[in-house]
Amino acid sequence: MALPSVSGKSDHWGSRFGFIMAAVGSSVGLGNLWRFPFTAGENGGSAFILIYLASVLLFGLPVLMAEYALGRHGQRSAIATLRKITTEEKKPSAWVGMGWLGALASLILFSFYIVISGWVFDYIPQSFSGAFSLFSDEVELLNANIGQSVAVMNEQIKSVHLSGACSFVSDGVITRVAETVDGAEVLRDISVGDVSACRFAETTGNKLEIFIYTAIFLLLNVIVLARGVHGGIERAAEILMPAFFIMLLGMVVYACVTGDFAGAANFLLTPDFSKVTFNTVLAAVGQAFFSLSVGSCVMFTYGAYLTRETSIPKNAALVAGADTFVALIAGFAIFPIVFAFGLNEAGGPGLLFVTLPIAFGQMPTFIGAVFFTLALFAAFTSAVSLLEVGVSWLEDQKAIGRVKGAIGLGVLMLLIATGYIFRGDLIDHADFLSGTVMLPLGGVLIGLFAGWVVPKHILIKELGDGLVLNGVLFLLRFVVPIAISIILIVGIVGKFS
Ligand code: PFF
Repeated sequence: MALPSVSGKSDHWGSRFGFIMAAVGSSVGLGNLWRFPFTAGENGGSAFILIYLASVLLFGLPVLMAEYALGRHGQRSAIATLRKITTEEKKPSAWVGMGWLGALASLILFSFYIVISGWVFDYIPQSFSGAFSLFSDEVELLNANIGQSVAVMNEQIKSVHLSGACSFVSDGVITRVAETVDGAEVLRDISVGDVSACRFAETTGNKLEIFIYTAIFLLLNVIVLARGVHGGIERAAEILMPAFFIMLLGMVVYACVTGDFAGAANFLLTPDFSKVTFNTVLAAVGQAFFSLSVGSCVMFTYGAYLTRETSIPKNAALVAGADTFVALIAGFAIFPIVFAFGLNEAGGPGLLFVTLPIAFGQMPTFIGAVFFTLALFAAFTSAVSLLEVGVSWLEDQKAIGRVKGAIGLGVLMLLIATGYIFRGDLIDHADFLSGTVMLPLGGVLIGLFAGWVVPKHILIKELGDGLVLNGVLFLLRFVVPIAISIILIVGIVGKFS
């Protein structure tokens, strides 16, 4: 096969700080704030977290280094880099398929990621409206009016529109909430969590509004991508990420001081291995890949813009460390509130949107608005990286300029996203397929490719020789492919049997 007729990337990161912010920006996102807390909650907390940390170190970090290394060596989009390496080194061109798998995974991820970002966006004006601060008073009113018709209550309740989407509404009447305790069904009072969950259901049920927010978020992505790597992605990340970190720390301090810190610490830090199954392990591995943005060739693409002077092992460790830190910190921002208000820690994808508004309801209104704005910033720098895979490929393989490429892919993504807006349950499936299956599978392939196919001198050039390289190579060759293949197969079979 002829060598691709493209030259290397001419656009590069302007500074090390800019690259770090963009790379951390890709990693830190809804995966840390939204996916990590609910996945940890559904999988028993601390034991899951331990397995998660091991997955980051043993699987995520080596694959991240391999992606940066091959990306910088190739100086092209992921698919083009694989084509260049397989052609130059006379290796089977089937390996290019790995790039296609990654590109497909990143587009699937992007298509639902922007919908969740649309929910986050929607919560910004909601926070400003002060609606969350009404929750506690309204709970009292609701409990005092059990049996009253929804039509009458809707005149008095302002923070939510009461409808069948609320757990305490049945046949148009306010009722106590049915809950199963030790196998028996009991009725309990309506709680703040119920009202907050009701508001979340209302939000996602308002399809036109979510569509508009999703479309605006997507449009901003397209604009930044069209402006290029240095002038667009990097500049956005340099401003958004530092602002995000400051606010997150503020949130944690607040949650730990006012919430149930001991309950959260117990849940997050005392491992209970009786809850661990292969599914837990699969969820942890998937979460590690999702959170670090590896396995989808996104980091191939970011690696292509790395300058020669940048040390890959150091920066990969920094990015993985920052990402893990933010995930844990997000746990400490959310679980103290979950336990203080008796919410269900396994609340699923709605956890972030149900728990945090309760806390925000007791603070000055701007705090909630600022938090969701910053979550949106974090989501933005991640989403941009997902779409960059496609834009970069169109640019150097199909000679389609960044502006046209970003717009074209944007339109396609909006169509798919509209599907999720109407069928929210599809998000769970798309998330499982891309995040839990395709990313770890991509990791296995990258491990095999970098470990066994790519000549060692290329890795030495990119990663330096010595202990780090040998350790990384061992993990890529043996640990990543064998362990993840077993986890994937047993986990998937277990899930469907
Ligand atoms: N790492 C991002 C997050 O935690 O939200 C999501 C993501 C970005 C996943 C890029 C995969 C990826 F390639």
